[in-house]
Formats: sequence, C-alpha cells, structure tokens
Amino acid sequence: MTLTDETRSESARRGHLAQPTAPKRPEELDPQQNPPVAEVFGSAAAPVTGPTNSLASRVVNCDDVPWTPFPMPGTSFKLLNINETTGATTILLYVAEGAEAPLHCHLGAAEAYNIFGTWAYEGEAKAIGPNCYVYEPAGIVHLPKQESESLMFGVFHGPIIGYNETGSVAGVITADLLWDLAKANNAVGHLPPRTGR
Ligand SMILES: [Fe+2]
Repeated sequence: MTLTDETRSESARRGHLAQPTAPKRPEELDPQQNPPVAEVFGSAAAPVTGPTNSLASRVVNCDDVPWTPFPMPGTSFKLLNINETTGATTILLYVAEGAEAPLHCHLGAAEAYNIFGTWAYEGEAKAIGPNCYVYEPAGIVHLPKQESESLMFGVFHGPIIGYNETGSVAGVITADLLWDLAKANNAVGHLPPRTGR
C-alpha cells in the first residue's frame, strides 16, 4: 500500500500507530541528491590520500589518571574507556601482593595483558607472568591467586559477579559502578561525559 497523507491520517483517526514514511521510488528521485549507484561506488573507491579530519583519536597519558580503589581489597584501577554500546570497560588494574580475589564469574569475556607480576588460577598449574595475554571466556567462574604484586591492562566485556564464601552474591561490578567510583575520585576527566551520570 502506498503511504499517502490520506492513509496516514485515516490510520491516526482509527488510533493506529503512526506509519513510517515510505521512500521515494527510483523514478521519483532527484538525480542531483541521489547520484547513480555506479557514481557513489566510484567515489567510495577513490584513493585514500589523507587522514580523516572529522574524527580525532583520544590519547591518554595514564600517569595523569589517578588510581581509584577497585571493589576488591588491595586492588586499584584506572578507567580508560567504556564502550557505551556493549558496556565493556577497559582498565589498568593494579593488584597488591597478598591481595585475595574472591571467587567470581565473568558474565562477558575478559581479556588481560599482564604487564608485570605473577599470578595463577587456583587449580591450574600454569603461572601468569609478565607479557602474558589472558582470555577468560564469558561464563567462567574462577579464583585467581596472586603470587606477587601485578599490573595488567584489561578489557571486561561484561559485568563480573563476586561471590561470598557461602556462594551467595557479594556484589556485581558493572561499567556504571566503575564509572561512579572513578568519577567520585576525580578520575574520569579524560573520558567523554556520560548521559545521565
Ligand atoms: Fe577473572
């Protein structure tokens, strides 16, 4: 059915939801505003000879970002990015010697690059030392054991659930929680503002 003002107002009169506006048919298009497809593809395939000047990279000297206490004793973080589409967070995470992580579950995968220090997962013999990359799949429940102080660059692709010793939920670490903690510590000045927070 062709959408006309008449049919739209009839629909509105009957209490239906507003109808979307239909696109023009090819023969109705203005060739000035809608150049032929071959012409559009031709310009898209033009050689790229310079940088994009309508966008800018965000560069942060991490030394300028204060450490904020992470929701686990003996740990601190620097919030480097929040992906507003997925809720993923990118952080630097410092873990002091002797810090004990609780049993936790990653609702989204986690990735980490261990810059220095050594730690391991309970029940797994392999230690994670400097320059190790770690991938933790979504849904994994594990218990890291710290062998020395460590620093890692990490990306959490979803929230983390921490458990008490009885197995009940102690807390959930989300992007919003990390943002709120960092903001209260004046450690988000390098990040874009977030709507509603
Ligand atoms: Fe983990």
